[in-house]
Amino acid sequence: MRSILISDIGSIVGILPEGVNKKSGSEMSETGILEDAWLLVRDGKIVSFGTRYEGLPEADETISARGGMVLPSFCDSHTHLVYAGSRDGEFLDKINGLSYEEIASRGGGILNSADLLRRTSEEELYCQARERVLEVIRKGTGAIEIKSGYGLEKDAEMKMLRVIDRLKRETPALIKSTFLGAHAVGRGRTKREYVSDVCEKMLPEASSMADFVDVFCDEGFFTVEDTDRILSEAEKYGLRAKIHANELAVSGGVQVGVKHGALSVDHLERTTEAEIDALRGTETMPTMLPGASFFLNMPYGRAKEFIAAGLPLALASDYNPGSSPSGDMRFVWALGCIKMRLTPVQAFNAITINSAYAMGVSDIVGSITPGKIANLIITKPLRSLTEIPYLHHSPFIEKLMLRGEFFPSNRT
Ligand code: NIG
Ligand code: FE
Repeated sequence: MRSILISDIGSIVGILPEGVNKKSGSEMSETGILEDAWLLVRDGKIVSFGTRYEGLPEADETISARGGMVLPSFCDSHTHLVYAGSRDGEFLDKINGLSYEEIASRGGGILNSADLLRRTSEEELYCQARERVLEVIRKGTGAIEIKSGYGLEKDAEMKMLRVIDRLKRETPALIKSTFLGAHAVGRGRTKREYVSDVCEKMLPEASSMADFVDVFCDEGFFTVEDTDRILSEAEKYGLRAKIHANELAVSGGVQVGVKHGALSVDHLERTTEAEIDALRGTETMPTMLPGASFFLNMPYGRAKEFIAAGLPLALASDYNPGSSPSGDMRFVWALGCIKMRLTPVQAFNAITINSAYAMGVSDIVGSITPGKIANLIITKPLRSLTEIPYLHHSPFIEKLMLRGEFFPSNRT
């Protein structure tokens, strides 16, 4: 029953009433703000907040925010941060003009990471991934979805899922795992054989460890038919889909995702009105990954048009060695503003409540709401929320709290 009072808060940003689990269309331009405030945390949860004029509650410990803001920690609903080593060689190939598809078709790309991952021990893989989790926590992320997909055969995929499971238990981040066996066709298999492997060999075991299932439904990878088959099979195990769609082409991925009631469809660099129409009135969160557009020099998703059409929108990092080697959600926030022309508040909602929704945790994180987990960022004193994406690389974090404990704690 230890309680912590955060006093002298310049403003709390990201307040939401209980029960609001995402923001759509014009709601994305709003966020709840309370100035001259305090916030009370007990047993790892947000208990209450108020203004200093209402008087401060009793607590076991009081810390001053010294006029800084209190925000909910960022939620990153799409990462591949369990991977072995690096792909800096391909960085040079890209600089020299090769495209993502050209690198992949020469046997590089995802297959390169898969070769290296199979040669890397589980312990080593865990240590590398843990460093990345701690790195993104320090940058303000409190909840992270992590995919498999660099194993490409059953044992190595299970190794990745075990590593993610250990990260869930041994780091303070809130982590969800996604089985992405269908990330690329494993070496030595035809696509037909591989899709059967995913359905018949991998899914039965992976479904006991993973929270979600994913398919890379795109040109040169898996077709709408492959995706349909895999998602139908995954449904038998109760796995909901979060899929890769429309990164490299208008792939039909959005439509097949919606057909299966996907929690999210992600990437969306290449979309038409048909994708917007398909998403209207559904429970599927469109998720864009501006870090991949930035790194691969691809078009950015049509974020403003999605929002103007009344849709919700989440932004995530796609942290991975090939197309987005950064898990910095503040940078994602800045790219959302600078490259996609979202307002700072729209992009803030996209990296907090909506990305929490896209990983199935918006009932417990993603906003300042009594009863939610106390995953908080206390900022340095700032003139406005706008300063965070505007001064896009100036330090802005004063203190971090995860599950009601300051980070780093003695245990991390
Ligand atoms: O989301 N697009 C597919 N998968 C990843 C890239 C993975 C890789 O290149 O290693 C992505 O961009
Ligand atoms: Fe991805």
